[in-house]
Amino acid sequence: MASVSIARLCKDKPSALGKGGPHRILHDISMEIADGEFLVLVGPSGCGKTTLLRCIAGLEEPSAGELAIDGKRVNDVPPQARDIAMVFQSYALYPHMTVAENLSFGLKMRHTPPDEIKKLVEEAAQMLEIGHLLSRYPRELSGGQRQRVAMGRAVVRRPKAFLFDEPLSNLDAALRQQMRLELLRLHRRLKATMIYVTHDQVEAMTLADRIAILRQGRIEQVGSPAQLYDRPANTFVARFFGTPEMNLIDGHVEDSWFVGDGVPFRAHLPGLGNQPVTLGVRAEDLHLQVADSSELPRGRIDVVEHHGHEDLLHVRCGDKVLSARSIAHKSPPPGTEVRLVVAPQHCHLFQRRDAQGDGKRLEPYGASEATA
Ligand SMILES: Nc1ncnc2c1ncn2[C@@H]1O[C@H](COP(=O)(O)OP(=O)(O)O)[C@@H](O)[C@H]1O
Ligand SMILES: [Mg+2]
Repeated sequence: MASVSIARLCKDKPSALGKGGPHRILHDISMEIADGEFLVLVGPSGCGKTTLLRCIAGLEEPSAGELAIDGKRVNDVPPQARDIAMVFQSYALYPHMTVAENLSFGLKMRHTPPDEIKKLVEEAAQMLEIGHLLSRYPRELSGGQRQRVAMGRAVVRRPKAFLFDEPLSNLDAALRQQMRLELLRLHRRLKATMIYVTHDQVEAMTLADRIAILRQGRIEQVGSPAQLYDRPANTFVARFFGTPEMNLIDGHVEDSWFVGDGVPFRAHLPGLGNQPVTLGVRAEDLHLQVADSSELPRGRIDVVEHHGHEDLLHVRCGDKVLSARSIAHKSPPPGTEVRLVVAPQHCHLFQRRDAQGDGKRLEPYGASEATA
């Protein structure tokens, strides 16, 4: 098993139409992946995840920067000699070979002794629960079974590290969920270093020891799933994780109070100087109280979505619609006027979003209370 170290890695590619100079796809990526770690690279489509993975595998050459596996520089080491296995979204099984032959092919090419091949194939087949499929051809397998065989082909090699590029995205939702569990079990069993690419925030959250989130070729934040969810470094990360998206309200701090622009939402934030800010509140942290006649109503329930285990309320509040989670089947009906309450420790505060919608996290701000 192995650690992977990436230092100031950049990748340039010729621009798509062949016009103009090269185009930077990855900017100054630095990251240490520990031996045995499950690291997920996540980000929107086109942000450079596959390119970074291919650089680690040796299928692409970095334009600048250093790559090391187990402390040894590998920039000039060819892919076959890096001892890394890559599993793609497309399974790329050999159609004319049985599952057993697909699993053993790579080992035969490496002149592994037949007894050893038999043992490794049996172990991998058992781990991935494909033992009963060994004599079948890929065309006789379901999508999920094919993906398992593709993983098995990587597992038999016992590589130093596994690289996965969106391996579950061709599977249906139920199978994806099942395969997520199996990947976690596989990781626990093999104790292998795994670098896993996905655009899916749920996959990232559920699989990762640590997540690195990329946008337009740059790392926005690296941390545990809880760190990224609870303390997003900026509004991009804040919006990327969580369904529904975090509520973001633009406004100002004035005399230690947050005052929403066009939204009757106030929060007491002592210790923070007057400045434009964006306040973030997750749907599970936004609590509704039915407004009584003595209070000014601050929001009105617009839509109630029933999800079975919970209700999701969309509450019109001035110019904005905010989302709030609520106990299933207990929600007041649409049209009900409500107060919105959020505990101070659940207020996320960002620099006021710029024209691109970006704002960096501000902290510490020492909020003490927040109500609408
Ligand atoms: N061979 C190539 N030549 C030029 N540009 C490319 C090439 N491959 C990918 N790109 C560009 O590089 C960026 C990152 O692509 P990719 O790594 O595939 O992203 P992701 O896997 O995150 O969807 C995209 O903007 C894509 O258009
Ligand atoms: Mg990709």
